[in-house]
Amino acid sequence: MKILVTGGAGFIASHLCDRLVARGHGVVAVDNLSLGRRAHLAQLDGLPGFRFAEMDVADAPQLRALFEAESFDAVFHMAANSDIARSHADPETDFGNTLRTTYSVLEAMRRNGVGQLVFASTSAIYGEVQGRVREDHGPLLPISHYGAAKLASEAFISSYGENYGIRSWMARFPNVVGERSTHGAVYDFVRKLRRTPGRLEVLGDGTQVKPYLHVADLLDGILLAWGRMSDRTNVFNLGGTTRCTVRRMAEIVVEESGSDAVIDFTGGDRGWIGDVPSVDYDTGRIRALGWEPRLDSEAAVRRAARWMLDHTP
Ligand SMILES: NC(=O)c1ccc[n+]([C@@H]2O[C@H](COP(=O)([O-])OP(=O)(O)OC[C@H]3O[C@@H](n4cnc5c(N)ncnc54)[C@H](O)[C@@H]3O)[C@@H](O)[C@H]2O)c1
Repeated sequence: MKILVTGGAGFIASHLCDRLVARGHGVVAVDNLSLGRRAHLAQLDGLPGFRFAEMDVADAPQLRALFEAESFDAVFHMAANSDIARSHADPETDFGNTLRTTYSVLEAMRRNGVGQLVFASTSAIYGEVQGRVREDHGPLLPISHYGAAKLASEAFISSYGENYGIRSWMARFPNVVGERSTHGAVYDFVRKLRRTPGRLEVLGDGTQVKPYLHVADLLDGILLAWGRMSDRTNVFNLGGTTRCTVRRMAEIVVEESGSDAVIDFTGGDRGWIGDVPSVDYDTGRIRALGWEPRLDSEAAVRRAARWMLDHTP
């Protein structure tokens, strides 16, 4: 297949490009390099069937021109703002990069008859809810602009499915960790430890608790669902089998660094406005297809921490 990967130079999408190329697909990766790194795709440069284009996906005319030139069979739409805390100060970040990119992709698909869309959604669409959340939970009341823009994206993807027959797979990711990550708590902890080796400051009181999933397990789940879920609109949670507190994550990073740094907590039940202190959700839908993450949350965090410590100057 000929596949467009938006946000292709990002952490998760660069691994996705590796997987799709390895499966023999032709891949065009586009990214405006606002958060992604061109180096994440260096291993694919020169391979037959792979091409990178620097582009703002929200720029609808430019994206449509790419579609007219390429004849895509499917789109993996991963481009978005991934800095949730930042959009508190600048809501336009999520409106533009998280929602408008989705609309621009859908319009290009509609005009060019592209029928398959895999979408990177998020647990942030659920907002602050108690207990283990299933895909059919409602009402959905996100507490971050990021979650709101992803939820609005899901809504447009659903309506484009009904109106124009576009099939979709909307994967609601948990916190994803792993090689090449350029944001998130593990990344921040490693960088802080590099700056002040004797002390690690942690936002919140450390009791925030969430599932963490390694990027390889995440992609196994997405690609399994893409091949096996056959409704027009497919929505599924992806998450770890266990959860990990922020305190435990900080301890793992300190342990892996081999230091005896003191961990200081800033206090409060969340790290920033829009942070959800406790996330837990049901992954029965994807697990019914046989998906099982190989790494639990702590193991995923430890592996990510090890890689970041080895790759952060
Ligand atoms: N990492 C996680 O924990 C997590 C959790 C839930 C959902 N997601 C979603 O997964 C996807 C990938 O996230 P990631 O963690 O790899 O983040 P990332 O920041 O590494 O990747 C996002 C990419 O999108 C690009 N981008 C942003 N706006 C763009 C625009 N207007 N035009 C073109 N490119 C643009 C960025 O430059 C970046 O390379 C995102 O959609 C994100 O919302 C990630």
